[in-house]
Order: sequence, then C-alpha cells, then structure tokens
Amino acid sequence: MKKPAILVARAIFPETLAYLSQHFVVESNQADEVLSPSELSMRLQGKVGALTTGSERIDGAVLKVNPQLKIVANMAVGFNNFDVPAMTASGVLASNTPDVLTETTADFGFALLMATARRVTESEHYLRAGHWQKWSYDMFAGAEVHGSTLGIIGMGRIGQGIARRGALGFGMKVIYHNRTQLSPQLEAECKATYVSKETLLKTADHVMLVVPYSAASHHTIGAAELALMKPTATLVNIARGGIVDDAALAKALAARQIAAAGLDVFEGEPTVHPDLLKVPNVVLTPHIASATTKTRLAMAQLAADNLVSYFTKGHALTPLNQVASAS
Ligand code: GLV
Repeated sequence: MKKPAILVARAIFPETLAYLSQHFVVESNQADEVLSPSELSMRLQGKVGALTTGSERIDGAVLKVNPQLKIVANMAVGFNNFDVPAMTASGVLASNTPDVLTETTADFGFALLMATARRVTESEHYLRAGHWQKWSYDMFAGAEVHGSTLGIIGMGRIGQGIARRGALGFGMKVIYHNRTQLSPQLEAECKATYVSKETLLKTADHVMLVVPYSAASHHTIGAAELALMKPTATLVNIARGGIVDDAALAKALAARQIAAAGLDVFEGEPTVHPDLLKVPNVVLTPHIASATTKTRLAMAQLAADNLVSYFTKGHALTPLNQVASAS
C-alpha cells in the first residue's frame, strides 16, 4: 500500500523523522525555516497529515486550500495556533502532547520563580559586567520563597505540579484560581485552596500563570490586576504570550509597582516588548519551559504516534476534536 504523505513543518529529532519515514512519505524542514501562512499552505499541498509546532497556524485559510488534509498533530500541549472549530468543520483531526511535559514544565515554573524572587539573573549580569567590588548586607536582597504564599492561576496538570512543589517542597501556602474548582481530593493532594482571582492577586507573594490562552484568558493580567498585587510580589508567566499585557507589565516593573517578573512567553514572540528589555527586574527566557532533551523527545514521539495511530488504527492517542476516522 502506498504510504500517506505528511509534512513535518519544523526541524525535529532525526530519530523521530526516521520513525515517521517508516510509515509515511515525509517532507521535512530540517533547515528549520519558520513558514509563512502561504508557504505553509503550499508545503501542505498533497499532504494528508502534518506535524506542527506553535509557530504554524492552522486556520480556515490553510484548510480551504488543503481539503485533502486529515490530521494535524501539534508538538505542544497548548494549541492556540489551531482553529479547532474550523478543523472540525473541515473534518481535520487535531491533536496535542499533554502529560509528557507536565512535570518538566512545572520544574521550570519553579526555576523561573526562584530566579525571579532571588534575583539570580539580575545579579549575574552585575557580576559579569565587573561591578562586584565588595559584598554588602543588602546586595540583591530578594523575596522569600519557602513559607510564602503562592497563587496559581490555571490549575490544570501543570498548575497542580507547581502546587505540589510549592506545598510539599517549599512549605508554601498555595492558593489558586481556575475556571472550575478542583475536586476536594485533588485540592487535598495539592494542598491548594480555591480563591477568587482578586483575593489571589491581593494575597499572593508569588503569582504563577499556567492558564491556556483563549479569547477569554487574553490579558488575564493587565494594569488593573497588577495594581492589586503586593509591591513586593513577583509574577511568573509560563503559560502563553497574551495572558499578560506585556506593555502594562513593563510599566509596572519600571515603577516598582510589583517587585519582579519571570517570563518564558511573550505577546508576539519571538519579538519581546522593548520596554521589558529595558527593566532590570525581569527574568526573560525564550519559551523553554518544556525544554529538556528527554521531554522534547517524548513530545515529538507522541506527536508522531498520533499521526501513526490515526492512519493505522483510525484514532489519535491524544485528540482535541472528533472527526470521522481515516481508515
Ligand atoms: C509549550 O508551550 C506547549 O504548549 O507545549
């Protein structure tokens, strides 16, 4: 039987490509060019499947010129680059990579929280610039992490991983806000207490954002929310660009309305708001929360397995929608 044709839209592990090549005729992009929407539409011509990352948007325009497409497997847990209703309407299956990145991403949330509260990168820049002439009692004094109050907005799998780290590892009081309250059993496991968003912002010493991006969560944190936070508080965003109003945050950081922020994701990334680059009290990382070799391999494998499973068994392992099966 003829192998189905697929596009792997960005560079990927050679072993994942080799695995996919056993099942598909693969057009790859190991040069790792970021494809414009029209290039993506063109490269998808004749392909029944695709493996994408957050940089490829699958919407009505792409689908309209690629009616042969059956499945797009995103190598990410977030899928705001997919117009899922349009995909469903076109009979295109969408899948993502949940679970395999949960603990690694929660680790990174904590790394960013620690770096932000304890001023790790700010002090390193000072040292590298040759400014360190003598020790002093208040040099880079930051905020306490252990025993403080951690407020988590978005209490899915990653939020729960962060809650467990905070409560069990750092003796933090954990409060959270979410669209729906967790079951009493999960709340007990995470040692987390449900509060309103306003109470969380007013009470937390550290606010961690782990909420998926949607029109409803756009600018979950803007000027009004920043004004509710403690002047000693830190804000960490490992969710998605657009959850925070980056311009408002840069202003709040410059005015020391809050103490510091740690950001792994940005509005319009890879472009970063120029005002964020000017303030010292922010830790900036290039969307790497799930970036360990083991986890990225697992994400690539799951995305590949979604394609293989769909074409060999008629269903994906971690689908986001339901459409008529391929086989
Ligand atoms: C990364 O941001 C992901 O959604 O997996």
